[in-house]
Amino acid sequence: MSVFFISGIDTDIGKTYATGALAQALLQQTLAPQNSLNSTPTSVITQKLVQTGCEGISEDIIRHRDMMGIPLQAVDHQGLTCPYVFKKPASPHLSSMLESRLIDPEVITQATKQLTDSYDIVLLEGAGGLMVPLTQSILTIDYVANMGYPVILVTSGRLGSISHTLLSIEALTQRQIPLHAVIYNQWQPNKHLASEYEPDNEITDDTKTYLQAYLKQHHPQTYWIDLPYVAGSITEGLESINYSSMANMAEQMKQYTAAALTSDLFCNNK
Ligand SMILES: Nc1ncnc2c1ncn2[C@@H]1O[C@H](COP(=O)(O)OP(=O)(O)OP(=O)(O)O)[C@@H](O)[C@H]1O
Ligand SMILES: [Mg+2]
Repeated sequence: MSVFFISGIDTDIGKTYATGALAQALLQQTLAPQNSLNSTPTSVITQKLVQTGCEGISEDIIRHRDMMGIPLQAVDHQGLTCPYVFKKPASPHLSSMLESRLIDPEVITQATKQLTDSYDIVLLEGAGGLMVPLTQSILTIDYVANMGYPVILVTSGRLGSISHTLLSIEALTQRQIPLHAVIYNQWQPNKHLASEYEPDNEITDDTKTYLQAYLKQHHPQTYWIDLPYVAGSITEGLESINYSSMANMAEQMKQYTAAALTSDLFCNNK
């Protein structure tokens, strides 16, 4: 019924981990005993816009299912949760061109629609950042604007994140795309680009404080979620993920979904 687009300030920023964690939090809420009596269970599935760098079933979808604690679903085997998978780990427009199999955005839209027929919430993970070309002529952000999906933006505390985050938010604002939430990924790589990079607490703490203040001033409705480090084993990592902020947002997404039932604003999500 509702589609949320999970984007990030860059590739490898943690969109897959954030999407899996969110889906898991939504599933857990649905299963919580206090929710099962009074409310209708909310069903959730994840989808990947385009997967590059693998063959067969999208590796991001496999990771989502791992984190959700469920096996691959029929919709995964049918290709609905990722209609386009390309071998070359590159931008979708390039990877698809190299295989002479061009991306038709309408195919993705129809797949999402089929998912929304069976699930209350679809978490659609993008490929790379918002300005990544989906085809030679369409940017990811234009596809999102056209569909009217609210965005959940993944960022981090690494050096450069403030600028990348504000640029992403400006681009969303310019296209009147709602910014539903910002997920701050506490995990950081040991290496950043070609140079050795050690996370610096002064920078990570200030980045978080700065971005929170910016959102409070310019986007007061936007949710803030901290995504913790997920340990090597997913089962182990999930224990640390179940923070109340994630659960709060999951609850808010359910309310949002309910509100969308009666709202014209998001009718194009169906
Ligand atoms: N919270 C986290 N805890 C532990 N490891 C993480 C976390 N976030 C990211 N990582 C590591 O960083 C890698 C990249 O993260 P992820 O796959 O979520 O990025 P992405 O934004 O989805 O990338 P893509 O644009 O390729 O889809 C992961 O494979 C994992 O090793
Ligand atoms: Mg990913």
